[in-house]
Amino acid sequence: MKLLVTGGCGFIGTNFIRLMLDKHPDWSIVNLDKLTYAGNRLNLMDLEENEERYEFVHGDICDRSLVMDLLSGNYFDAVVNFAAESHVDRSINDPSPFVTTNIQGAQNLMECARQSKIGRFVHVSTDEVYGSLGKSGKFVETTPLAPNSPYSASKAGADLMARAYFETYDFPVLVTRCSNNYGPYQFPEKLIPLMFINAKSDKSLPVYGDGMNVRDWIYVDDHCVGVELTLTKGREGQAYNFGGDAEETNINVIKTLLSAVGKPESLITYVTDRPGHDKRYAMDFSLAERELGFAPSVDFKTGLEKTIKWYEANATWLEQVQSGEYRTFMDTWYEERT
Ligand code: NAD
Ligand code: TYD
Repeated sequence: MKLLVTGGCGFIGTNFIRLMLDKHPDWSIVNLDKLTYAGNRLNLMDLEENEERYEFVHGDICDRSLVMDLLSGNYFDAVVNFAAESHVDRSINDPSPFVTTNIQGAQNLMECARQSKIGRFVHVSTDEVYGSLGKSGKFVETTPLAPNSPYSASKAGADLMARAYFETYDFPVLVTRCSNNYGPYQFPEKLIPLMFINAKSDKSLPVYGDGMNVRDWIYVDDHCVGVELTLTKGREGQAYNFGGDAEETNINVIKTLLSAVGKPESLITYVTDRPGHDKRYAMDFSLAERELGFAPSVDFKTGLEKTIKWYEANATWLEQVQSGEYRTFMDTWYEERT
């Protein structure tokens, strides 16, 4: 199988490319990435030595002629679209790049893939398109989309565009909707790696609101397997939910992490809540279990330990990614909340 993966220099894309090349000796991957603040070419630099199996292309999924050239000049079997602006807080600060990349970019990619008669297209969406749950119940694939942040609204736009491409053009698209990922290479603006670096340097840990918001945490490799199963076994036109079956309150995640790294709970600071903060996400992924044979394989405690070990062993990576653009956003955002 020859794949075009977009956004492969980000957190999930990096893990996906590594896992797929490892599992499938006969697969090759071209990775198209714009290298925003969240993309790091060094994540996969060692793979660049093997040109037959992995190639990096620097570019934007919004660029019609670049994407068209790539798709028509290669015989790709499928496209997997991870490329996105992915951080909710940044989308609150400035929604524009989210609309550009997450909606227009995804549509451009689908259109070029349609014109090139691609065999299969997996669009990576998110559980956040469903909005927020109360204390009980879980999201199923037929739950109406009701996004609450500019990020999730932009992801819902692309998710619905995928549906429209299937219904209108019979375009062979499949959609994945997954819960919160954690694991190696996650950019330290998201909850777990941010709390890790703050704890390690004895800085305060900023908890939004009362810390009782609930997320369903999935170890990144399990999500990658979900994407792989969707690609190889899924039904065209179908959206599949994925989750880790690991609902945790934010405060519980933070306390577990603090205890694992041997730091005191006195570092916890409650700060102004995120506007439009979704209360709870929980995934019913029984469709993926039944149709694809999916099951999360890493429980939260084990996954968190593995993740902490990875960050402890990769302090240089963590240093490297905290460069100019990152610092400017982080300083302003957290200054306004305390
Ligand atoms: P990330 O922010 O770590 O990585 C995004 C990558 O996309 C970066 O390498 C960036 O350079 C690239 N990119 C951004 N704009 C681009 C453009 N216009 N053209 C080409 N490349 C571009 O994100 P992530 O956490 O790895 O998420 C990947 C995908 O999975 C996203 O679509 C996200 O919505 C979805 N998702 C994420 C989670 C999660 O918990 N992180 C959960 C469910 C779904
Ligand atoms: P995040 O990692 O940004 O993922 P998402 O918003 O996509 O779920 O945040 C996870 C949860 O942690 C979310 O409820 C917001 C909360 N949070 C904090 O309490 N403090 C922080 O500094 C961050 C980044 C997140």
